[in-house]
Amino acid sequence: MTSNGSIIKPRALITGASSGIGRELAKIFAKNGCDLIIIARREQLLNKLASNLKENYGADTYIISKDLASIQAADDVASILEKNSLRVDILVNNAGFNEFGKFDHSTRWKKELDMITLHIITTTRLTKLLVPQMIKRKFGRILNVSSISGIVPTPTTSVYAGSKAYILNFSESLSIELEGTGVSVTTLCPGFVRTELTETMSESGNVITELILMDAEKVAKKAYKATMRGDDVSVPGWHYKLMTTLVRLLPRKFVGKVAGKFMGR
Ligand SMILES: NC(=O)c1ccc[n+]([C@@H]2O[C@H](COP(=O)([O-])OP(=O)(O)OC[C@H]3O[C@@H](n4cnc5c(N)ncnc54)[C@H](OP(=O)(O)O)[C@@H]3O)[C@@H](O)[C@H]2O)c1
Repeated sequence: MTSNGSIIKPRALITGASSGIGRELAKIFAKNGCDLIIIARREQLLNKLASNLKENYGADTYIISKDLASIQAADDVASILEKNSLRVDILVNNAGFNEFGKFDHSTRWKKELDMITLHIITTTRLTKLLVPQMIKRKFGRILNVSSISGIVPTPTTSVYAGSKAYILNFSESLSIELEGTGVSVTTLCPGFVRTELTETMSESGNVITELILMDAEKVAKKAYKATMRGDDVSVPGWHYKLMTTLVRLLPRKFVGKVAGKFMGR
């Protein structure tokens, strides 16, 4: 990238970079010449990642250790960016978590409220705060992490599925709004990925589970390419691509019931 005739490195802000897909995304953006801003709650893990990114790829990394599950979180982040004159060229809204169980009696409301706040409010507000500067510079890339659960009704994780569906629809709509501005919005819809979020699945040793769990590094590579190309939606893995295609042809209730059986409902 150039600014006033001098070459500058693009900077990617990645939420939820302390583990899993976010950590792999940070590595791949750094490998491809970006500086980073990484955000999550576990500061030690962020520090470790920042050293790794400097050592292996020469990337400069700014760390923000913060709980993003609050209404004010995105505004706080924007203030830190402004105070430190940190431009953001690529925004990755990746931080997220799940709460499994029956909605009527076993899932916890506090967890669900935090999830809605993190997945919906923080993603939307961070995007709102950063998009105008990207449009002004005529360049920007946004990657919002949804899920296959954003496409398929998923009993026993209803609030997660609902919040991920919001991310998908919000991002696809915004992507059309931003056509011609130089700013693109890509939605990542992974299936099951081997990370902290799916730890119990990996530990089960089930053959089907082993077959369908994807590596976070592979998913991040696909997401990186899709983001930089400006694709609208990325579904990594041929089996998940096939699944999402079939799902569109079948009645949603039937698909949801099959998904529910798989989730052990
Ligand atoms: N793994 C899968 O099968 C799968 C499938 C589809 C979609 N996804 C999505 O992919 C994204 C990344 O998940 P992952 O699988 O990589 O799981 P992960 O390894 O558990 O990573 C989640 C990341 O989000 C951060 N995070 C969670 N709550 C936060 C909060 N309140 N404030 C700030 N950061 C927070 C965590 O950091 P701290 O704990 O340090 O705060 C961590 O860095 C999520 O949006 C998830 O929904 C995952």
